[in-house]
Amino acid sequence: MTRTGGFQDDDFWTEFHDFLFSEQRHTQAEELLATSPLLSFPAGARVLDLCCGPGVFTVPLARRGHDVTGVDLSAAMLERARKRTAEAGAQVTYVQADARTYEAPGAFDVVLNMFTSFGYFEDPADNARVLRVMHDCLAPGGTLVLDLAGKELLARKVTPPKVVQRGEDLMVQTDSVQDDWARLRSDWVLVRGERVTRASLVWFVYSAVELRRMAQEAGFGRVEVFGGSTAAPTTRTPSGWCCGRSARADRGAGACAEVRTPF
Ligand SMILES: C[S@@+](CC[C@H](N)C(=O)[O-])C[C@H]1O[C@@H](n2cnc3c(N)ncnc32)[C@H](O)[C@@H]1O
Repeated sequence: MTRTGGFQDDDFWTEFHDFLFSEQRHTQAEELLATSPLLSFPAGARVLDLCCGPGVFTVPLARRGHDVTGVDLSAAMLERARKRTAEAGAQVTYVQADARTYEAPGAFDVVLNMFTSFGYFEDPADNARVLRVMHDCLAPGGTLVLDLAGKELLARKVTPPKVVQRGEDLMVQTDSVQDDWARLRSDWVLVRGERVTRASLVWFVYSAVELRRMAQEAGFGRVEVFGGSTAAPTTRTPSGWCCGRSARADRGAGACAEVRTPF
């Protein structure tokens, strides 16, 4: 039996890649970009996809004519993203960096953080720091889109162990609540032929109210929260996303940047 590490571990993302980044997800990302009012950006916008993974969003964004940079810690995920980008004949800049320390002051019109790529750090201060990084990467008038499964959604989804099959592979996922709903733990067992791989993930989960406060503390002035990629209100949260949007009063310029936060 193999045991992989958590969010910061190349082996984890590689081993569970097929379950997390199916072809269906790539197709859904294209559809979302085409239909979601939260993901509609001006032509040629400079977009940073922070924690971009294997390019689920970077590739279709580039194909839509945006100037895209993908940042991720995992060399393995970036290699996949580069390959997919080349196969699509698209142009994306990829950077291997930690989301806590990436620096590109004012360089982007849009920052994206998709598919619950937030709350990964054991020290809550590090999660707050990632929001500040996103804030500082935005030019005045820029937009942040943060897409993550909010606490309200998760409260309905933490169920007994579930089994997912993909081809011949089986994955058993068992979720449990930790620290009075501060964090969630997810234990995964992947059975691939004779081989069994286990992984345990623990991350901070946030309600709309908590995330709004964090965004404001990071410098974002106005926060709007939605219950889905269609920008539905949280009171009508669909099975998939919770979304939020916020705007910040900018450094001295008095401009407002719109920050959209599907989570
Ligand atoms: C759930 S995946 C999401 C990938 C992509 N956003 C998507 O929508 O498919 C999270 C990604 O975060 C990356 N990641 C984890 N810790 C990171 C860190 N400290 N800095 C940058 N990226 C990180 C992982 O390598 C992984 O590719």
